[in-house]
Amino acid sequence: MSNLNHTGPNKSPEAFAAAGNSDAASDAPSGSSVPSVSAAARNPELGRKFTLGKDITDEQKEFYHKYGFVVFSGVFFPEQIAIVTEELEKQKKLVADSGKTEINGVPIKFGIDKENRVIPQRTPFMNLLSPVIDRLVRDPRLEALLQFIPDSRFGYNERDGVVINHYVAGGKSKFKKLGWHTDSIRDIFYLEKVRPMLNVGIHVSPSSATQGGLRIIPGTHNQSIWKLLTGKLHIIGHAPDPNELIVNVAVGDLTIHDGRLWHRAAGPTQALGHNRKTIYFPILCGPYSPKNENSKPPFYLRFMTNVKPKPDVKDV
Ligand SMILES: [Fe+2]
Repeated sequence: MSNLNHTGPNKSPEAFAAAGNSDAASDAPSGSSVPSVSAAARNPELGRKFTLGKDITDEQKEFYHKYGFVVFSGVFFPEQIAIVTEELEKQKKLVADSGKTEINGVPIKFGIDKENRVIPQRTPFMNLLSPVIDRLVRDPRLEALLQFIPDSRFGYNERDGVVINHYVAGGKSKFKKLGWHTDSIRDIFYLEKVRPMLNVGIHVSPSSATQGGLRIIPGTHNQSIWKLLTGKLHIIGHAPDPNELIVNVAVGDLTIHDGRLWHRAAGPTQALGHNRKTIYFPILCGPYSPKNENSKPPFYLRFMTNVKPKPDVKDV
C-alpha cells in the first residue's frame, strides 16, 4: 500500500497538480492544486463500508488500526434522521433566541445564513439542550463502538459534548468549511498525553465529491507527535491533499475517526443547497473530566467569537 506509507500529510500537492479527472476537483478553491488520482482510486479498499453489529469484528478493528477510520452503513433509518433533522432546525432557532453565548464554558459560534439570519453554526453540548439528540447518541447499538479503544467511554459531558456544526456556503456566511486539523491537538494545548480518542459522526447530511463533506488522510493517525503538530497548518489549510480520501457517506451512515487523523470538512455545494449539518461526539479514555456551567472556555477555542454578528437585515 505504497500510497499509505507516509507518517504525515504530503506537503507537496503541487506535485500532483490537476490533470483533470479528479473527484476532488469540486473541493478545490480556484487556482489551487488537486490530486490527479483519488486515494480511493489507488486503493479501492478505502471505499469499504461496514455493518455495525453487536460486536466490532476483527476485520473492522484491523481496518481502523490501519487507516484510522471506519464507515458504518445505514445505522439509522431515514425516518429517524428526518426526526433528528427537524429537531436540529428547531434547536437552531431556540439557540439563536436563547441569549446563550456558551454552554459549559464552550462558546457557541454564531454566523449569518444565506437569508441573512443569525444562526448558531457550532453548538456544543447539544445533548444537554435536546432530549431527541440525547436519545440519538445514547442508542444502545452504539455501545459496540467502545470496543475500538480499551477502557473507553462516550464523552457526553466532557470536551464539547455532542457538537452540531452547520456549514453554510453563500451569502454572508463565514463558516463554510473547516480546514485541515487533528482533534488530538487539544491534548497538546493542555500539555496532556495524547491519548487514543475517536470522534463519532452521525450523518444527517451526505458527504461525497459532488456534495462536499468529510475528507481525511488515511493512516495519519499513526503519525508522530511532531507530525501531528506540524504536518499541516491547523485549520488554516483547505487545499486538497494528494493523499486525501473523499469519505462517501449517505444520510444515516455513522463514521468513527481517530483523533490523530488529519481531516477537514469541504464546504457544501449547490447539490446540498449550500447547507450541511454534522453531529459529532467523542469516545475518550484516561482521566474523567466532566464539564459543568462553571467550566472556563478552553484555550484552543478562545479565538472563536461568541458575539453574535449583526446582519444588515435581521430575520428577513
Ligand atoms: Fe475534527
